[in-house]
Amino acid sequence: MAQQSLPATGREWHLVARPQGWPTPADFALVEAPVTAPAPGHVLVRNEYLSVDPYMRGRMNDAKSYAPPYALGEAMHGGAVGRVVASAAEGFAVGDAVLHGLGWREYAAVPAGQAFKVDADAAPLQAYLGVLGMPGLTAYAGLLRVGRFQEGEAVFVSGAAGAVGSVVGQVAKLRGASLVVGSAGSDEKVRKLVEEYGFDAAFNYKNGDVAGQLAKAAPEGVDVYFDNVGGEHLEAAIGALHLHGRAVLCGAIAQYNDTTPPAAPRNLASVIGKRLTLQGMLVGDHYDLQREFVAEVGGWLAEGRLRFEETVVDGFENAVDAFLGLLRGANTGKMLVRVS
Ligand SMILES: NC(=O)c1ccc[n+]([C@@H]2O[C@H](COP(=O)([O-])OP(=O)(O)OC[C@H]3O[C@@H](n4cnc5c(N)ncnc54)[C@H](OP(=O)(O)O)[C@@H]3O)[C@@H](O)[C@H]2O)c1
Repeated sequence: MAQQSLPATGREWHLVARPQGWPTPADFALVEAPVTAPAPGHVLVRNEYLSVDPYMRGRMNDAKSYAPPYALGEAMHGGAVGRVVASAAEGFAVGDAVLHGLGWREYAAVPAGQAFKVDADAAPLQAYLGVLGMPGLTAYAGLLRVGRFQEGEAVFVSGAAGAVGSVVGQVAKLRGASLVVGSAGSDEKVRKLVEEYGFDAAFNYKNGDVAGQLAKAAPEGVDVYFDNVGGEHLEAAIGALHLHGRAVLCGAIAQYNDTTPPAAPRNLASVIGKRLTLQGMLVGDHYDLQREFVAEVGGWLAEGRLRFEETVVDGFENAVDAFLGLLRGANTGKMLVRVS
């Protein structure tokens, strides 16, 4: 078996209590765990970048969902990229760059079938956690397949300065949208959306009611709404959607830390008259689009026509802070943790 010299232990983040409402640092523990040579059919990966994602908040609850809850007292899971430091699996060599699902730890023993080699020359490793990874595919599949976006249509996207939303808005523009409007939680994010990401209009949802601000930005309404937020945003979008409009229900981050059900949307009945389609989506259903997505979005990236931003928190020990920051909107673009 090929391997580099390994440390005796590596750190991992465990969930130790189920958050009630907003998570706090006390819900997590930084734990030293032994690092051992990989079992047959496994590779040992030293993680370089970890992804922190909004869906992780849902996995901290003990509730039935599309993904099982994180177990208490065990390392959490999540996207990560790193290098193979020991291999007991055919087809993997020390030094290979891989993407896998055992984040929240410095060293990960990954079954070979769950480690995906990535081309570190084609893009920086961490891009496979963001614009060329799960969030990018979510944006692409959600807008084009689930939202059935067509050239010439008007689009509204919430969470527009984040990993998914920033790609949604840019793909819509590059595919010929007549209007792209975004909402985000700071004036600086709003400025960037218009001046740097090519959105036609954007507004800060913290500056006033969403419906009123959306009506100003898109007085004629929209054809597609890409929902990352839920609640008041979804209500406003239902009001603004044209006849036969589509809403892609991708996320509802406004309510992930709520302990009571959301008050909005209160206008669901207008879905009937306008014959709207409100469709939930999970990126896991759309990996058949991966090749097409990488070819088109990767091409725009290479040509400099699509921008992406990362907010990188340094240090494995700061991963929980990065996750909490993500929930508060501390990121523009993809929130990442650089392990060291
Ligand atoms: N269905 C799927 O398969 C799938 C896959 C990936 C992601 N998602 C969902 O897509 C959404 C975006 O994910 P992402 O990874 O791209 O995260 P992200 O947008 O990069 O980061 C989360 C952002 O949510 C915003 N936010 C926090 N609280 C908010 C609130 N009360 N109202 C409005 N915005 C709020 C913050 O930005 P502001 O400063 O703008 O508030 C924050 O930066 C999330 O809802 C996530 O769960 C779904």
